Amino acid sequence: MNVRFRCNGRAVEVDVPPMSRLLDVLREELRLTGSKEGCGEGECGACTVRIDGEAVMSCLVPVCQVDGASIVTIEGLGASVVHPVQTAMLQHGGAQCGICTPGLCMSAAALLERNPHPSREEARVALAGNLCRCTGYQKVVDAVCASLAPEGS
Ligand code: FES
Ligand code: FES
Repeated sequence: MNVRFRCNGRAVEVDVPPMSRLLDVLREELRLTGSKEGCGEGECGACTVRIDGEAVMSCLVPVCQVDGASIVTIEGLGASVVHPVQTAMLQHGGAQCGICTPGLCMSAAALLERNPHPSREEARVALAGNLCRCTGYQKVVDAVCASLAPEGS
């Protein structure tokens, strides 16, 4: 099946089985390996991307569902200007091994766009689908709450 969508602002077309996982298409067809596979079952959030603005776990999405959609991956989040949440994650020590970090940043970017000044509780709720085995979440929440989303992020 030919599937056309926008990815990080670029029009792309792939010819793949319709039920291919979006995560696999991104990583293997488009060579965008920033989105990680942790569980492959919608439990960890390491594969989170934004589809039409919403943070979505790409391991759960058949590629046929994104025909015509606009997708942003971690490669697109800081492509022109580093996103404030990426800077804050560095400054606050919110990344350790890093496997969860791309997904956390995508969920955080979606939160900050709809709520530029989240409380710690709001940040925790928004990141609840993103598991991290290293940081204990405190520094991640510190980073998200210290970020202010740029316009149009
Ligand atoms: Fe998609 Fe874990 S790899 S949620
Ligand atoms: Fe290692 Fe989050 S930094 S899992």
